[in-house]
Amino acid sequence: MNLLYKMLVICITFFSVSLSYAENYKVPYPDGYRNWTHIKSMIIEPGHSLENPFQGIHHIYANKKALKGLNEGKYSDGAVLVFDLLNYVKKDKTIQESERKLVGVMVKNTKKYKNTGGWGFEGFAANSKTKRLTNDGGSSCFACHAPLTKEDYVYSQYRE
Ligand code: HEC
Repeated sequence: MNLLYKMLVICITFFSVSLSYAENYKVPYPDGYRNWTHIKSMIIEPGHSLENPFQGIHHIYANKKALKGLNEGKYSDGAVLVFDLLNYVKKDKTIQESERKLVGVMVKNTKKYKNTGGWGFEGFAANSKTKRLTNDGGSSCFACHAPLTKEDYVYSQYRE
Protein backbone atom coordinates (compact mmCIF):
# COMPACT_ATOMS: atom_id res chain seq x y z
CA MET A 1 0.00 0.00 0.00
CA ASN A 2 1.52 3.34 -0.88
CA LEU A 3 1.47 6.25 1.54
CA LEU A 4 -1.10 8.30 -0.36
CA TYR A 5 -3.55 5.41 -0.31
CA LYS A 6 -3.01 4.86 3.42
CA MET A 7 -3.62 8.53 4.12
CA LEU A 8 -6.79 8.45 2.06
CA VAL A 9 -8.10 5.50 4.07
CA ILE A 10 -7.27 7.29 7.34
CA CYS A 11 -9.04 10.46 6.15
CA ILE A 12 -12.18 8.60 5.08
CA THR A 13 -12.30 6.68 8.38
CA PHE A 14 -11.83 9.87 10.37
CA PHE A 15 -14.51 11.66 8.34
CA SER A 16 -17.10 8.91 8.76
CA VAL A 17 -16.33 8.50 12.47
CA SER A 18 -16.79 12.24 13.04
CA LEU A 19 -19.99 12.21 10.95
CA SER A 20 -21.54 9.42 13.02
CA TYR A 21 -20.32 11.20 16.16
CA ALA A 22 -22.29 14.32 15.12
CA GLU A 23 -25.35 12.18 14.20
CA ASN A 24 -25.19 10.51 17.59
CA TYR A 25 -25.32 13.86 19.38
CA LYS A 26 -28.31 15.16 17.46
CA VAL A 27 -31.42 15.67 19.59
CA PRO A 28 -34.07 13.31 18.18
CA TYR A 29 -37.52 14.60 17.14
CA PRO A 30 -39.87 13.77 20.05
CA ASP A 31 -42.21 11.37 18.25
CA GLY A 32 -45.57 10.90 19.96
CA TYR A 33 -45.20 13.81 22.41
CA ARG A 34 -48.87 14.77 21.94
CA ASN A 35 -49.68 11.61 23.95
CA TRP A 36 -47.41 12.65 26.84
CA THR A 37 -48.45 14.58 29.97
CA HIS A 38 -49.48 18.17 29.38
CA ILE A 39 -47.71 20.29 32.01
CA LYS A 40 -48.88 23.83 31.32
CA SER A 41 -49.66 26.45 28.68
CA MET A 42 -48.80 30.12 28.27
CA ILE A 43 -49.48 32.92 25.81
CA ILE A 44 -46.60 35.28 25.04
CA GLU A 45 -47.78 38.55 23.57
CA PRO A 46 -45.94 40.87 21.16
CA GLY A 47 -43.59 43.19 23.06
CA HIS A 48 -42.53 40.52 25.60
CA SER A 49 -38.77 40.00 25.92
CA LEU A 50 -39.17 36.42 24.63
CA GLU A 51 -41.19 37.63 21.60
CA ASN A 52 -38.57 36.51 19.12
CA PRO A 53 -39.05 33.61 18.54
CA PHE A 54 -41.48 32.58 21.31
CA GLN A 55 -44.47 34.89 20.72
CA GLY A 56 -47.60 32.77 20.45
CA ILE A 57 -49.33 30.13 22.56
CA HIS A 58 -47.20 27.27 23.85
CA HIS A 59 -47.98 24.01 25.58
CA ILE A 60 -45.36 22.09 27.56
CA TYR A 61 -45.31 18.27 27.50
CA ALA A 62 -43.26 15.80 29.54
CA ASN A 63 -42.51 12.11 28.97
CA LYS A 64 -42.67 9.75 31.99
CA LYS A 65 -39.09 10.36 33.12
CA ALA A 66 -39.49 14.13 32.81
CA LEU A 67 -42.74 14.00 34.79
CA LYS A 68 -40.87 12.20 37.57
CA GLY A 69 -38.17 14.88 37.32
CA LEU A 70 -40.72 17.68 37.61
CA ASN A 71 -41.88 16.16 40.87
CA GLU A 72 -38.39 15.52 42.21
CA GLY A 73 -36.50 18.53 40.79
CA LYS A 74 -33.81 16.27 39.31
CA TYR A 75 -34.01 14.53 35.93
CA SER A 76 -32.62 11.15 34.88
CA ASP A 77 -31.20 10.38 31.43
CA GLY A 78 -33.99 9.88 28.90
CA ALA A 79 -36.22 12.64 30.31
CA VAL A 80 -37.70 14.74 27.47
CA LEU A 81 -39.56 18.05 27.67
CA VAL A 82 -41.33 19.63 24.69
CA PHE A 83 -42.28 23.27 24.09
CA ASP A 84 -44.98 23.17 21.41
CA LEU A 85 -45.40 26.72 20.04
CA LEU A 86 -48.38 27.76 17.91
CA ASN A 87 -49.57 31.06 16.52
CA TYR A 88 -52.94 32.27 17.77
CA VAL A 89 -55.78 34.40 16.44
CA LYS A 90 -58.09 36.61 18.45
CA LYS A 91 -61.64 36.08 17.22
CA ASP A 92 -65.09 36.83 18.67
CA LYS A 93 -63.64 37.41 22.14
CA THR A 94 -61.69 34.15 22.05
CA ILE A 95 -58.02 33.31 21.56
CA GLN A 96 -57.65 30.32 19.28
CA GLU A 97 -54.68 28.21 18.24
CA SER A 98 -53.49 28.42 14.64
CA GLU A 99 -50.45 27.03 12.78
CA ARG A 100 -47.46 25.59 14.60
CA LYS A 101 -44.37 27.85 14.76
CA LEU A 102 -41.84 25.46 16.23
CA VAL A 103 -41.30 22.49 18.51
CA GLY A 104 -38.62 23.08 21.16
CA VAL A 105 -37.04 20.02 22.76
CA MET A 106 -34.88 19.34 25.82
CA VAL A 107 -33.53 15.81 26.21
CA LYS A 108 -31.52 14.75 29.24
CA ASN A 109 -28.27 12.91 28.66
CA THR A 110 -25.63 13.82 31.21
CA LYS A 111 -22.69 12.46 29.20
CA LYS A 112 -23.63 13.62 25.70
CA TYR A 113 -24.67 17.15 26.63
CA LYS A 114 -22.36 17.98 29.50
CA ASN A 115 -21.58 21.46 28.08
CA THR A 116 -25.25 22.48 28.25
CA GLY A 117 -26.20 21.32 31.74
CA GLY A 118 -26.75 17.67 30.71
CA TRP A 119 -29.60 18.71 28.40
CA GLY A 120 -29.62 18.55 24.59
CA PHE A 121 -31.55 21.52 23.15
CA GLU A 122 -33.12 21.64 19.69
CA GLY A 123 -35.88 23.41 17.84
CA PHE A 124 -37.80 21.92 14.90
CA ALA A 125 -39.39 24.38 12.45
CA ALA A 126 -43.19 24.34 12.22
CA ASN A 127 -44.39 20.78 11.44
CA SER A 128 -41.02 19.53 10.23
CA LYS A 129 -39.35 16.60 11.96
CA THR A 130 -36.04 17.30 10.23
CA LYS A 131 -35.64 21.07 9.80
CA ARG A 132 -33.49 22.04 12.78
CA LEU A 133 -33.28 25.55 14.21
CA THR A 134 -30.12 25.52 16.34
CA ASN A 135 -26.62 25.74 14.89
CA ASP A 136 -24.60 26.31 18.06
CA GLY A 137 -25.08 22.96 19.81
CA GLY A 138 -27.88 24.49 21.88
CA SER A 139 -25.61 26.88 23.79
CA SER A 140 -27.81 29.97 23.17
CA CYS A 141 -30.87 28.04 24.40
CA PHE A 142 -28.95 26.90 27.46
CA ALA A 143 -27.71 30.45 28.18
CA CYS A 144 -31.26 31.44 29.14
CA HIS A 145 -32.04 28.22 31.07
CA ALA A 146 -28.65 28.25 32.86
CA PRO A 147 -29.66 30.37 35.91
CA LEU A 148 -32.10 27.64 37.04
CA THR A 149 -29.47 25.46 38.69
CA LYS A 150 -31.80 24.37 41.52
CA GLU A 151 -34.49 23.23 39.07
CA ASP A 152 -31.98 21.33 36.90
CA TYR A 153 -32.43 24.09 34.24
CA VAL A 154 -36.18 23.57 33.83
CA TYR A 155 -38.54 26.56 34.05
CA SER A 156 -41.91 24.77 34.09
CA GLN A 157 -43.49 23.51 37.25
CA TYR A 158 -46.15 20.85 37.35
CA ARG A 159 -49.56 21.81 38.63
CA GLU A 160 -52.16 19.29 39.75
C1 HEC B 1 -34.48 34.06 26.54
C2 HEC B 1 -34.80 32.88 27.33
C3 HEC B 1 -34.97 31.54 26.67
C4 HEC B 1 -34.29 31.03 25.59
C5 HEC B 1 -33.23 31.66 24.73
C6 HEC B 1 -34.78 29.67 25.44
N1 HEC B 1 -35.72 29.37 26.39
FE1 HEC B 1 -36.66 27.61 26.63
N2 HEC B 1 -37.83 28.42 28.07
C7 HEC B 1 -37.74 29.71 28.55
C8 HEC B 1 -38.79 29.95 29.53
C9 HEC B 1 -39.04 31.24 30.31
C10 HEC B 1 -39.53 28.75 29.61
C11 HEC B 1 -40.76 28.48 30.49
C12 HEC B 1 -42.04 28.70 29.70
C13 HEC B 1 -43.28 28.42 30.52
O1 HEC B 1 -43.23 28.54 31.76
O2 HEC B 1 -44.33 28.10 29.93
C14 HEC B 1 -38.88 27.81 28.70
C15 HEC B 1 -39.27 26.49 28.55
C16 HEC B 1 -38.68 25.59 27.69
C17 HEC B 1 -39.02 24.19 27.60
C18 HEC B 1 -39.97 23.44 28.53
C19 HEC B 1 -39.20 23.01 29.79
C20 HEC B 1 -38.93 24.15 30.74
O3 HEC B 1 -37.75 24.49 30.99
O4 HEC B 1 -39.91 24.75 31.23
C21 HEC B 1 -38.29 23.66 26.58
C22 HEC B 1 -38.32 22.23 26.08
C23 HEC B 1 -37.47 24.73 26.05
N3 HEC B 1 -37.72 25.90 26.76
C24 HEC B 1 -36.59 24.57 24.99
C25 HEC B 1 -35.79 25.61 24.50
C26 HEC B 1 -34.98 25.49 23.32
C27 HEC B 1 -34.83 24.25 22.45
C28 HEC B 1 -34.37 26.70 23.14
C29 HEC B 1 -33.46 27.13 22.02
C30 HEC B 1 -33.93 26.90 20.66
C31 HEC B 1 -34.80 27.55 24.24
N4 HEC B 1 -35.66 26.86 25.04
C32 HEC B 1 -34.36 28.85 24.43
C33 HEC B 1 -36.79 30.62 28.21
C34 HEC B 1 -35.89 30.49 27.15
